Amino acid sequence: MKFDPSGPLKGTLRAPGDKSMSHRAALFGAMSADPVHVTGYLDAADTRSTLSAVHALGALVEEGAPGTLTIRGPGLRGAGDAHIDVGNAGTLMRLLPGWLAGQRGGQWTFDGDESIRRRPVDRIAKPLRAMGADIEATDDRLPPFTVRGTQLRGIEYALPVASAQIKSCVLMAGLLAEGTTTVVEPEPSRDHTERLLARAGCHITRDGDRISLTQHDELELGAIHVPGDPSSAAFHIAAAVLVKGSRIVISDMSANWTRVGFVRILERMGGVVVGDLETPDASAIRSDEPVTELDVTAGPLVGTVVEPHEVPLAIDELPLVALLGCFAEGETVVTGAAELRVKESDRIATVVDGLRGLGADIEATDDGFVVQGTGGLRGGTIASHGDHRLAMLGAVAGLASAEGVTVDGMEAAAVSYPGFESDLRSLLT
Ligand code: S3P
Repeated sequence: MKFDPSGPLKGTLRAPGDKSMSHRAALFGAMSADPVHVTGYLDAADTRSTLSAVHALGALVEEGAPGTLTIRGPGLRGAGDAHIDVGNAGTLMRLLPGWLAGQRGGQWTFDGDESIRRRPVDRIAKPLRAMGADIEATDDRLPPFTVRGTQLRGIEYALPVASAQIKSCVLMAGLLAEGTTTVVEPEPSRDHTERLLARAGCHITRDGDRISLTQHDELELGAIHVPGDPSSAAFHIAAAVLVKGSRIVISDMSANWTRVGFVRILERMGGVVVGDLETPDASAIRSDEPVTELDVTAGPLVGTVVEPHEVPLAIDELPLVALLGCFAEGETVVTGAAELRVKESDRIATVVDGLRGLGADIEATDDGFVVQGTGGLRGGTIASHGDHRLAMLGAVAGLASAEGVTVDGMEAAAVSYPGFESDLRSLLT
């Protein structure tokens, strides 16, 4: 698929439903006692895997108008034995075992695609086992793996990396564990799980970097609205900043401060982005999910240094920071992002190789990359390596390049954003 250099982007767009919140809406919906009505649900390969998973566990999923569904049961302690195919969805693979591990007598097997089979699960197996869980993984760290339900007990767990997936898994297990479960975060990461648990009536508290919750009987959620995904919107935002004369509006986008780190980094680089973003506050747990409209205008950029504490707040957008760095004046550095190596691809290697192939001056480091701004990109061919975010990165690079970019494996975008190409083209004048 070729993306030619383009004229300015104009218009208004709502990015598809947030992927992280959609996974959680389906899982927490299935864990609830009463039916949960969801609007704005992401219709993409990853979040379809989650609907299939909750269906296999015994939930009834009734789909209405696009993005609208009702999930009924099976409730917190009612999941039936099943084989779960997570497809490409790392979030499903890391969160769901947290719910299942404490359901005594049950047995579940997990597997997924070729990429998922390279993604570690020891990061969740370790804390779950400390809670008393029975988990058997391939080579002790990879899928396929088996979870057998046991009685869990609460623990205090200091996360070795700032991962919302591990945090969520331990908190979900805490719902069925005896006593109190505490997770200590090295840095704040996305907090949708905490917000949903608070909304569902759970006793969940935050004290500095410590999040604690006690055993709970029934989740009460009612309705969940999933706003547009800032990680998907980021591709259009980057294109609009890079292509001269552009001005776009992104509507109904999540303004949750743990998700908009990319916008903050972009502002620092000189990007003109106007919106009502939530004020950071890691001292309490909020229960709402704020939304905003973003107004984005093209303009010159300067390089920046992304510090380790910013990484979890922009983890999926860091490939775009590398792309912006190619067009910025001076140097752009990302540090403390070794987690990129265990994403859908090794995103340090694939971003560096991919952008270098398009003419970028970029070097990999152990935990990030260093980009020298050269004022533009020549273009060429980039391989997605089956990674949705690499595919969409290539498309945006093409619009802003001198000669255009061919993306090898564009179909990977369907993992999180099936309508990406047509949405992007709808903004081209
Ligand atoms: C996610 C958390 C992040 C992110 C992933 C979705 C989530 O992973 O990269 O795309 O929904 O919790 P980690 O928490 O493991 O960094």
